[in-house]
Amino acid sequence: MAEEFKEWVVARWSIAPERDMKKYGHPAMFPEKLVERVLKLFSYQDDVILDPFNGVGTTTTVARRLNRRFIGIDISEEYCKKAEDRLKNLTINETFKKLNIKVSKV
Ligand SMILES: C[S@@+](CC[C@H](N)C(=O)[O-])C[C@H]1O[C@@H](n2cnc3c(N)ncnc32)[C@H](O)[C@@H]1O
Repeated sequence: MAEEFKEWVVARWSIAPERDMKKYGHPAMFPEKLVERVLKLFSYQDDVILDPFNGVGTTTTVARRLNRRFIGIDISEEYCKKAEDRLKNLTINETFKKLNIKVSKV
């Protein structure tokens, strides 16, 4: 953690653009890695993260994964719904992980 902090505050960041924009149907998503770095650098667990332009919920998804509380706002109801679905999927995946359940396609 301390090493990540040192590396991230002095280095120039090189982060690939989000590849799943077609999947979520949003043309300008943040890459999760970018949000993860910013949240780890500038917030603590249980802090409240506000993204008033939350789109399909990259900020709120990463905030949940990093144990931050969050408020996501977007003018588009469709994007808000997708952001909620992403959170639901994250919860399901985390539950499967905790129970060590692996799902594979047959
Ligand atoms: C660059 S996108 C954000 C994408 C988001 N970071 C993500 O990864 O999904 C900007 C978002 O701002 C929303 N937006 C534009 N005007 C707004 C407004 N007045 N109030 C709330 N949201 C707005 C758009 O619908 C769009 O989803």
